[in-house]
Amino acid sequence: MGNTTGKIRIAALISGGGSNLQAIIDACDRGTINAEVVVAGADRPSAKGLERCHRHGIPTFVVDYRSIVRCFEQDPAGMPLPPDADVQAVLARQTLLSDGMPMEKRLAFIATRILAEARLLAQLRSHAPDLLVLAGFMRTLTPYFIDRINTDAARPRIMNIHPALLPAFPGTDGYADTFRHGCKVGGCTVHFIDYGEDSGPIIGQRAFAITPEDTLDTVREKGLAQEWLLYPECIQLYAENRLRKRQMSHRLPDGRQSTRSVVDILPGPS
Ligand code: GRF
Repeated sequence: MGNTTGKIRIAALISGGGSNLQAIIDACDRGTINAEVVVAGADRPSAKGLERCHRHGIPTFVVDYRSIVRCFEQDPAGMPLPPDADVQAVLARQTLLSDGMPMEKRLAFIATRILAEARLLAQLRSHAPDLLVLAGFMRTLTPYFIDRINTDAARPRIMNIHPALLPAFPGTDGYADTFRHGCKVGGCTVHFIDYGEDSGPIIGQRAFAITPEDTLDTVREKGLAQEWLLYPECIQLYAENRLRKRQMSHRLPDGRQSTRSVVDILPGPS
């Protein structure tokens, strides 16, 4: 892992403003994290965060999910799937689509995701990243993509930042969900991704108080300020090879055995 300078190579995927990506780039530049951002990709050409990369001379690419879906709907035969893709197998392993969705729709959804993900993989591979960080990337990733990045099951390589204290409030609007629930504490979480929605093993969390004076806007501001600290901290733990995924089992009160993946943080050099 890493290159001759000992820095790990980070790839990032974004959809929006990219303030987390900026925090990561700045932490790399300051030397707070032993890493460099080698490429950033977006799922839409309008992602403002791409401009941040241009300012820092970081290569970028766009895989336009919307146009892939549009082309597939117009002419599925004109969009052949990659030879290594098995839509049925991916569908069987993913946990995001509800069983209630008609099979034809589910297959089409997975097919368009695989088409997009194959393009992501081609772009990412040419930059040989050690770690992929999702920084406000508003697309879920299928097992097709995840398995091709996580080639060693014991060493996941895709991190995400989520705007809530998971497992509370998974989904797309964690700060709003936290605020509307009347929570007195909000927070953010960095986790490795798995096949579910914001369900992967937790690496780090930061919390902040929500006071009666807060509005949704101030909650978002407080949260983002914590995200910009948390993400570089977690990336540095990865760069120091201090993150270990393991299975943790315990017996529930009803007698059932519960097992899930957790992340242990190894002590740093003293
Ligand atoms: C952040 O709140 C992050 O937690 C969520 O999307 C937002 C992205 O913000 N996943 P930015 O694009 O990094 O500014």
